[in-house]
Amino acid sequence: PVEPLKPLTVKEPEVEVDDGKQKVTIFFGTQTGTAEGFAKALADEAKARYEKAKFRVVDLDDYAADDDEYEEKLKKESLALFFLATYGDGEPTDNAARFYKWFTEGKERGEWLQNLKYGVFGLGNRQYEHFNKVAKVVDDTLIEQGAKRLVPVGLGDDDQCIEDDFTAWREMLWPELDQLLRDEDDSTTVSTPYTAAISEYRVVFYDPADAPLEDKSWGNANGHAVHDAQHPCRSNVAVRKELHTPQSDRSCTHLEFDIAGTGLSYETGDHVGVYCENLIETVEEALKLLGLSPDTYFSIHSDKEDGTPLGGSSLPPTFPPCTLRTALTKYADLLSSPKKSALLALAAHASDPTEADRLRYLASPAGKDEYAQWIVASQRSLLEVMAEFPSAKPPLGVFFAAVVPRLQPRYYSISSSPRMAPSRIHVTCALVYEKTPTGRIHKGLCSTWMKNCVPLEKSSDCSWAPIFVRQSNFKLPIDPKVPVIMIGPGTGLAPFRGFLQERFAMKEDGVELGPSILFFGCRNRQMDYIYEDELNNFVQSGALSELVVAFSREGPTKEYVQHKMMEKASDIWNMISQGGYLYVCGDAKGMARDVHRTLHTIVQEQGSLDSSKAESMVKNLQMTGRYLRDVW
Ligand code: 2AM
Repeated sequence: PVEPLKPLTVKEPEVEVDDGKQKVTIFFGTQTGTAEGFAKALADEAKARYEKAKFRVVDLDDYAADDDEYEEKLKKESLALFFLATYGDGEPTDNAARFYKWFTEGKERGEWLQNLKYGVFGLGNRQYEHFNKVAKVVDDTLIEQGAKRLVPVGLGDDDQCIEDDFTAWREMLWPELDQLLRDEDDSTTVSTPYTAAISEYRVVFYDPADAPLEDKSWGNANGHAVHDAQHPCRSNVAVRKELHTPQSDRSCTHLEFDIAGTGLSYETGDHVGVYCENLIETVEEALKLLGLSPDTYFSIHSDKEDGTPLGGSSLPPTFPPCTLRTALTKYADLLSSPKKSALLALAAHASDPTEADRLRYLASPAGKDEYAQWIVASQRSLLEVMAEFPSAKPPLGVFFAAVVPRLQPRYYSISSSPRMAPSRIHVTCALVYEKTPTGRIHKGLCSTWMKNCVPLEKSSDCSWAPIFVRQSNFKLPIDPKVPVIMIGPGTGLAPFRGFLQERFAMKEDGVELGPSILFFGCRNRQMDYIYEDELNNFVQSGALSELVVAFSREGPTKEYVQHKMMEKASDIWNMISQGGYLYVCGDAKGMARDVHRTLHTIVQEQGSLDSSKAESMVKNLQMTGRYLRDVW
C-alpha cells in the first residue's frame, strides 16, 4: 500500500451558512507555495483583526469546476484578494491557468463585477521581461469589468526580498479593510508586529521497531491514475551520456528516463518535473547543525483543517513518516537562502541571546540592507546561516514548518518526441557548478545527480527518480506546411530536438513539410556542439531545411544566434510573412531578451515599419500564438 501525499488544500464544504458576517475570499495562484503562504498568513492576521468578518483561502483551481461556475460564484463576491505568481514567459501558475484564461478573455461580459472590491498582490522577478504580468493583467481586467480597486497592485520581486514587498502591500491594505470590516464602535487598534507567530507542525515520534516501512515514500507511488507534482512516478534512468567533449570545461548530460509501463505519457514540447535528493554531505551538515539523531523516526501533522501548520503562515504539505535522514534528503531545501520568517523562527530557538538578537535584526526593517547584502547577494544558504548561529536549534516541528522550505522539483524541456521515443523521456541538462560569493561551491542538485547517475545499460541496479510531466503550449503548428523558425542556443536546443524528431517521423510517413530553420549556438565546434551528428542528419533527411550555428568563442569576436538572425533577416521575414511560427528556447535574462530585440529590428527593417508598428506586429505574433517562448 502506498500513502499518497496529502493534497495542498482540503476543499471547503460547498454549503455556506449565512451568519451575517462579511465574507472575504483570498485567492491564490501558486507554484512553489509562496503565494499560498502569503494568502494564508494574511488570512490568519486578518482573522485576528476583524472578528466580524469571515476569511476563506481558496486555490483558484478548486474554486470552480468550469467557466460558468467561476462566473456564478465571482458575481456573489463582494471583497476579494488575489495572490498571483507569474511564471516562465509571463504565464500563470498551473493552478491559476484555467481561471486566467477564462477571466482575461471575457471582455464581452461588460462591467459585471461592480459589487466587488479587491486587491491584487503579484509574485514575480524583476529580472524577467514579463515582470508580474499575471497580477497586472488580472488587476486591469478587474477594473475593466467594473470592480473597485482598494490598493494598487502589489509587485512582489523575488529578485530582492519579496517578503518585504508583501509586508509593505499589507500595510497599505489594512486601512482600507479597517473601513470596510471594522465596527464603528470598535476602537482597538492592532499593530502588525514583524515578529509574526511562528508556525509549527505537530510531530509524532515512533519507536524504530514500530516504524512504518521506509519505502512508503512517494517515489514509489506508481500505479496512480494521474501523475502530477503531488503524485510523481518512479522512473528508471535507461541511458546517460556526456554531450560535451573532454576538451570542454563544462558538462552537459543527455539522459533518458524509461517510462514504459508507468502510465506516463508526453507530447513534444512538454516539460518533465524531476524530484531530486540532497547530497549526503549536505544532509550530514544539516544533521550536525540540528544536533538530532539521523534515525529519529517521525511524522509531521497539521492539526488545522486546511493542512497548514499550527499557528500561522504555511508551507507545502507534510510527508509520509520517515527518518530524519530521509526527510532531510528528500524534502528539505537546505541550500536556498533563508526567508526572513525562517530567521525569526531560528531566533525563537536560539539559546544565545546575542545570536537571537542578530537574527531578529536581519529580519527586521532596520536590517533590510544587511539582509539584502549578507544573505541575498552573497547567496548564503540556510545551512551557511545556521552554521553562523550555532545556538539556534529549532525542534523538528518548527524546522519543517517554518525554517526549511520544501525541496521543489526541477523542470526540463523534454528533448525527444513520443513519435521517435514513445517509452522514453529525453532530457538535455547542463551542469550547474559555480562558486558563490562566500566561496561555497554551489553544485546544482538535479544536474549533478544527472551527471553522476547510473543508467540501466550499465547496471540493473540503476538510478531512478520520481518524475511527472507538465504540459506546455510550446507545440509545432498543426499544419506541417507552415514555416518554422527555431532559436535555441546551448540546452535551449532541447525542445527543438523533439520538434525535429517529430518532423523526421512525419517525413518518413510521407507528410509534406514546410520550410524550417534552426539557429543553434555554442562556444566551440570542438567542445560543446551538442547533437551535431543528429542535427546534420535532420538536414539530410529534409526534416530541417537549414541549420545555422553561431560559435561564440572561435573567432576574435563573439557570434551569437541573434547575429546570425540578422544575416538571415530577409529569410526570417519571408517565413513570417507566409504565416510562419517562431520559437525561442533558453536563457530568459540574456539570450531571449536579445533575440526579442533582434526580432523587432528585423520586422522593422524588412517590413519598412516604424518602431511602434513593428512593436505591435511582434505583439500580434505573440498574441496569436505564432511567437512562442520556452525560457528560464
Ligand atoms: P558565451 O558563453 O561565449 O558567452 C550557449 O550557452 C551559447 O549561448 C554560448 O555560445 C554562449 O556564449 C551563448 N550566449 C551567451 N549569452 C548570450 C546572449 N545574450 N545571447 C545569445 N547567446 C548567448
